[in-house]
Amino acid sequence: MRPTADRVRESLFNSLGQFFEGGAVLDLYAGTGALGIEALSRGFDRAVFVERERKVRAVILENLRRTHLVEKADLVGGEVEAVLRTLEARGEAFDLIFADPPYRIAAAELGGILHRLCSLLAPGGRVVIESGEAPVEVAGGRKGVTRRIGGTFITTLGRSELTMIVAVCPGSFDPVTTGHLDVIRRASKIFEHVVVAVGANRRKQLARLSAVERARLIEKVTADVENVSVEIMEGLLVDFARERGAGAIVKGLRAVSDFESEFEQAQLNRTMFPELETVFIMASAEHSFLSSSAVREIASLGGDVRGLVPDGILETVMEIYSSRDDKIKGS
Ligand code: PNS
Repeated sequence: MRPTADRVRESLFNSLGQFFEGGAVLDLYAGTGALGIEALSRGFDRAVFVERERKVRAVILENLRRTHLVEKADLVGGEVEAVLRTLEARGEAFDLIFADPPYRIAAAELGGILHRLCSLLAPGGRVVIESGEAPVEVAGGRKGVTRRIGGTFITTLGRSELTMIVAVCPGSFDPVTTGHLDVIRRASKIFEHVVVAVGANRRKQLARLSAVERARLIEKVTADVENVSVEIMEGLLVDFARERGAGAIVKGLRAVSDFESEFEQAQLNRTMFPELETVFIMASAEHSFLSSSAVREIASLGGDVRGLVPDGILETVMEIYSSRDDKIKGS
């Protein structure tokens, strides 16, 4: 355990603010609980301390008793990532999140945790990460402000930096078209990671192909894009996004005719999960006429869908959609 030195703590609060009018703080890898306790003593009205070691939690409790702050605090045991999941599921939001991991926690683990933190941050909230050897990689440079205080790096991230990390690109993809692929590729240049969510659109007829078949086709055509993964989405899009720590939904917009339905979906999703932004990518001109339903119709009548679906799946699509009768498969 590496207790936050007094000097680092003082300097940290000098930049965060001296006094606070309420708010909730989350102190991860809490150790002695010094950061969370300092935040409480400066005006925060609630703190959650996460510490795996039972003996160390007893120290935090003792420190809280000594400072008469026990009533404002929750002490939680367990692994940080699992606790984050629980807090997320409870819909908790924090104004300040400290992550001061021990040296042995790898930068990669912190990177994974950052994704989760985005859905736990209240509007205007900040995440503060301390690291001993080097700044947190995922948060370095343009993604956060890193300062060095003695031998400690302090990286501060706002909400906006975090929400640009993971995006969900949902659709029924029956089948994936070159237009979809163009949007997925462009999204992969904006976001750190794009999860393509293969779902069922209950407002349309059931998909011809099963979700697994549709996902496989997308996997095939996105195999060369490192930061894209494909998953099957069974429930609500907002729940799917929340579970993956995504801050944005990305959708392609082809023409005015798309707008009404997309606007409605975006508004409804926003009502259910206000922190999740819907971002639209304008379809390239050559794709503005292209739809999965057109591909299905052309292929089923024996037409050529070259150029309308990615080359890598052309033959499979022709074969599947031309040979299938109108029997509809569940997704
Ligand atoms: O490619 P599509 O058919 O336009 O995709 C629509 C999809 C799958 C993205 C949409 O139907 C969806 O989000 N389904 C998941 C269920 C859900 O969240 N429904 C509420 C949306 S307002």
